[in-house]
Amino acid sequence: MTETPTELTLTLDGEQVHAKDGETLLDVCRRAGKEVPTLCAEDRVDPMGSCRMCLVEVEGQRRLQPSCAFKVQAGQVVQTASDKVKRHRQLLLSMYLADHELDEDDLPRERGTGNQLRQHVLDHGTGPKLPAINAPREYRMENNPYIHFDPEACVLCNLCVRYCDEVEAVSAITLAGRGAKTTIATADQKGLLDTTCEMCGGCIAVCPTGAMTEKPSLASDFREEEVVRSTCNFCGVGCQVNLHTQDNKVVRVTSPPAGETVNDGNLCIKGRFSMEFIQHEDRLTQPLVRGDDGALHTTTWENALKVAAQGLMGVKEKYGADSLGFISSSRCTGEENYLLQKLSRAAFGTNNCHQCAAT
Ligand code: FES
Repeated sequence: MTETPTELTLTLDGEQVHAKDGETLLDVCRRAGKEVPTLCAEDRVDPMGSCRMCLVEVEGQRRLQPSCAFKVQAGQVVQTASDKVKRHRQLLLSMYLADHELDEDDLPRERGTGNQLRQHVLDHGTGPKLPAINAPREYRMENNPYIHFDPEACVLCNLCVRYCDEVEAVSAITLAGRGAKTTIATADQKGLLDTTCEMCGGCIAVCPTGAMTEKPSLASDFREEEVVRSTCNFCGVGCQVNLHTQDNKVVRVTSPPAGETVNDGNLCIKGRFSMEFIQHEDRLTQPLVRGDDGALHTTTWENALKVAAQGLMGVKEKYGADSLGFISSSRCTGEENYLLQKLSRAAFGTNNCHQCAAT
């Protein structure tokens, strides 16, 4: 029998709030609508407290504490926006900027999936401008077609490593090196294709600075993208995808945020990267019907469905319903598969229906 967590009360920015034993201060802050900046926090992995962005002031604690890893306690008095916390955030951002390339706007360069570090700089400002740090990080030879890694944009939050390990259980990447040379590496700095990497691209999705980016869309400006929600059609799971389009072309595929859809923020290699077929010139975009000349001709959907129905009815009348067979695909959704068996049984009167996943 699971125990119900104990309810407790604490003071957050001068207000009494309720929490459950085992929650972190960040959980409580988010529920209370407090803006606590984070870089290395992710609900799907264990907290690491590495980026220090989420530090808050907890009465009785000598130092600021990482709210993403610090557990609530009854009677705690917590401040998320005291002068001390604000000073810390600005100095921390100054230090991050000293270690990361700047663009002409004096801010870290925008990367493919957005840059939370850049956003924090805009939202919270910085402290004193610090001299740039010489921190040459090792690049690895990457010949994979999907995942680009720019070590200079990496803030070493280790989120990609934790995702790869704790969510995907793949452990293809790891933190390696010491001091200013620390970087995200593979075993022997092999390219990802020579590791256990499954190319799911989850590292890209969780990376807060865009140091991991989709290679195929490196050239596109993500600020120009329009986003359309769709269902991945590579298998019947029904993962939800966000199709990012530019000039009416899909340039990138991402998952809706974790916790919102069946795929919980995850995608596989096909769902995330196999998008060329959408614009492929061989793709059929109009229905075709074979004419008396034996060739296929474009037609309307209405006519195509009429011709298909007439053909099927003709076989049924001539040879009986069991002369027909209906085969559906595990690439279809559950609803589409249901409709196909209904068409077979209810409309044509045969149980000759099958689906490839059933064999
Ligand atoms: Fe808490 Fe990084 S988000 S230390």
